[in-house]
Amino acid sequence: MSDFEYASAPESRAIANIESNYGLFIGGKFVQPKKGKSFNTINPATEEVLSKIGYADKSDIDAAVKSARSAYLKVWSKMPAKERGKYLFRIARIMQERAREFAVVETLDNGKPIRESRDTDIPLAAAHFFYHAGWADKLEFAGFGSKPKSLGVVGQVIPWNFPLLMLAWKIAPALAAGNTVVLKPAETTPLTALLFAEVCQQAGLPEGVVNIVTGDGVTGAALVNHPDINKIAFTGSTEVGKSIARAISGSKKTATLELGGKAANIVFDDAAIDEAVEGIVNGIFFNQGHVCCAGSRLILQENVAEEVLDKLKKRMSLIRVGDPMDKNTDLGAINSKEQLNKINEISNAGDKEGANRWSPEVKLPSKGFWFPPTIFTGVTQSHRIAREEIFGPVLSVLTFRTPAEAIEKANNTMYGLSAGIWSDKGSKVLWAAKQLKAGVIWSNTFNKFDPASPFGGYKESGWGREGGRHGLSGYLTAEAKVNK
Ligand code: NAI
Ligand code: MG
Repeated sequence: MSDFEYASAPESRAIANIESNYGLFIGGKFVQPKKGKSFNTINPATEEVLSKIGYADKSDIDAAVKSARSAYLKVWSKMPAKERGKYLFRIARIMQERAREFAVVETLDNGKPIRESRDTDIPLAAAHFFYHAGWADKLEFAGFGSKPKSLGVVGQVIPWNFPLLMLAWKIAPALAAGNTVVLKPAETTPLTALLFAEVCQQAGLPEGVVNIVTGDGVTGAALVNHPDINKIAFTGSTEVGKSIARAISGSKKTATLELGGKAANIVFDDAAIDEAVEGIVNGIFFNQGHVCCAGSRLILQENVAEEVLDKLKKRMSLIRVGDPMDKNTDLGAINSKEQLNKINEISNAGDKEGANRWSPEVKLPSKGFWFPPTIFTGVTQSHRIAREEIFGPVLSVLTFRTPAEAIEKANNTMYGLSAGIWSDKGSKVLWAAKQLKAGVIWSNTFNKFDPASPFGGYKESGWGREGGRHGLSGYLTAEAKVNK
């Protein structure tokens, strides 16, 4: 059976024109950072340096915020909403036209399989712009009062797991609502944000409406603490989210925070087992498990546990790990050395605390950062691998006997971002969904996203929602002037 081998099917990188260095995108132009500092971004699958990136400090952040404020006051807040919408439509169309280029750059900079950047990240990013373009001239009908107003200048900080998609989740609603933005991409994945800056130029977006400043956590903190910012939108770790909440308390800044997760994926004994196995694989191994809503805790009904685990192991043996640019690859590179160290550290704690680790036999490339698809059985709720976000291709398996026990275990977490329920019975799914403390609940599927659907969490998974009408509300203030 194992003789059935795939030939490699590498995507060409010829379409991607990655410059040897990039400045900051401020006021519609690429400018050098004032202090001239820079850092490298690498391809985590090969450790090859892709480009030298400008490092923004406090003075660069100040210039970017000034540019955004000026664009807000002079142009963007005054522009008829219909015109704003046209720019968003234009950006969405250009993203579609340049989709292949975006996918290649995303995969090189991030390490995710080209199949995923091509079929998920980039199309969804464009879809977010299309969706919000449609809202731009209909805000008075969105249910936030008859004259909802934009907030002003928004500071946005995004992570490395879905670089362009998180940019779209942030920028599209902000602009549709009439705000201008300063966005800081993650230090390991700045390239698609810089390519997006080119798209803004190509779309003729008025200068200063979108500013992209590259750097690390210090740069992000300078943006958060800038006095002339009206709102912060952040996606990343719970730890940094908490520090942002502290930093803005007592100021007039508002915030939306999309933080970590430790989602339960519950399989009842009446579920379609083969479909559930596909859902489990998609839930934890999609994007190397670098997904805040990943189904990282599999909660199995005891009487089907053995069958599910047998099938899961067989299915995991078919996961193709390796070159992210190969169109057949399922699991790409871990995004950074730091993240690989973190995955190793928590997984090793799983061994020490007595859980049983299993991975299929896979040959990992010698260069770059890699981790095989892994499951832990014999996990108890007190184990670190059951409590902490690993953010890697590692699944912790727990079991239950009664539905009530499944719910109790699923909710026994400081997070509450997402959950999955697998059952043949609609009534059971609805019953379980009602009890689960999670912002997004999938039934008989997992990791499905749509720009019209709100996304966000309970407890330490964050504040507010992104996407849909709910997400839009975070970029508007309602003026209670209905019927006036
Ligand atoms: P992080 O939260 O440090 O980084 C996310 C973004 O925030 C990056 O752009 C970073 O430069 C910026 N940042 C860092 N410190 C900041 C500060 N004090 N103020 C403002 N911005 C700041 O996440 P990191 O270190 O990359 O990953 C650590 C862990 O966080 C991961 O192992 C994972 O568990 C979790 N994580 C969760 C994400 C999610 O989508 N929920 C995304 C990324 C990481
Ligand atoms: Mg990189």
